[in-house]
Amino acid sequence: MLASLNVWADVIAAGLVGAAVLFWIVQLVGNGVSGRFRQKFRFGQWPEHDEVIPVFPRLIHFLHVVNMIMLAVSGIYIRFPFYPGLKPFNQQVHYIAMWAVIVFMIIRIVYAIFIDRKAFTFTKQDAKVMPQAMMYYMFVRKHYPHLSKYNGMQKLTYGYAFPVLLTFLAITGLSMFWPNQFLGWTGSVASAAALARVIHFTLAALIITVTLIHICLSFVEDFPALMIFFGLRRQYWEEDYDEYYEEDEEVEEQIDPRRAEQLDDQLDEPLDNVAVAKVLAAEDPPPKKKGKN
Ligand code: HEM
Repeated sequence: MLASLNVWADVIAAGLVGAAVLFWIVQLVGNGVSGRFRQKFRFGQWPEHDEVIPVFPRLIHFLHVVNMIMLAVSGIYIRFPFYPGLKPFNQQVHYIAMWAVIVFMIIRIVYAIFIDRKAFTFTKQDAKVMPQAMMYYMFVRKHYPHLSKYNGMQKLTYGYAFPVLLTFLAITGLSMFWPNQFLGWTGSVASAAALARVIHFTLAALIITVTLIHICLSFVEDFPALMIFFGLRRQYWEEDYDEYYEEDEEVEEQIDPRRAEQLDDQLDEPLDNVAVAKVLAAEDPPPKKKGKN
């Protein structure tokens, strides 16, 4: 029974990771073919943020990333010890990272409840626009329905799926760490611990899959925010906005109003003037200088 459960767990894990790889391929090809990459990476049409991301959640996010990588790598080695001799060291890595992730998760949940609860509150409006967001991700819809900092799917993933999955990973993990204390009530500690191990592994595969999808969407949908999150790019502060808007005015002056109107008509939702100017510039680039390829 347990042997066949373990085989099923491996099959499910392989299927989940395969689905995440497929998701990456679809997003990369879809963004390339639909021209979204060009609009984003070339013309800078990234989502606009009206608030600066505070340092504290960024720091916790960074620590989570480090711990999750340590847990995923050491966990995979615990299941598939492909290189002998590393077992004791690897186990210690998993044990250190598991305490760290539990502590940071509790801190982040407390912070979310008391400081940025609004960002994760799922509203009726979120439910309403969720299918639109999903269609956008599936390349059926051209525009992304921007409502608040996170869309409904992001709120559900960051605010509920990740913490719930991590909590179950912590419970099943601690059941293996302290089997008597956690599983004594079952009357059969050894088989309960073996079952906890299968569940822990399957949930680990699920959280790795959700994380891979999360990384993919952060990369294709909001690369600048991803860079900001890891401190690799500066956020716009108020004084930067003045400079930014001055640049906007210069671009707006170059727009041919009739062509901009035509372009607006072709789209489901109007673009702002700067975006229109950038699209027009792409359609009608300045002539190349002689002698240059
Ligand atoms: C959240 C707190 C966590 C705790 C308390 C925990 C604890 C544990 C423990 C005690 C083991 C058994 C170690 C051994 O047999 O030497 C284990 C195994 C494992 N852990 Fe975790 N872990 C946690 C999170 C994670 C996460 C986030 C992942 C993946 C992203 C993960 C992946 C794994 C895997 C793949 C195994 C091997 C399971 C198997 O042998 O089938 N763990 N974990």
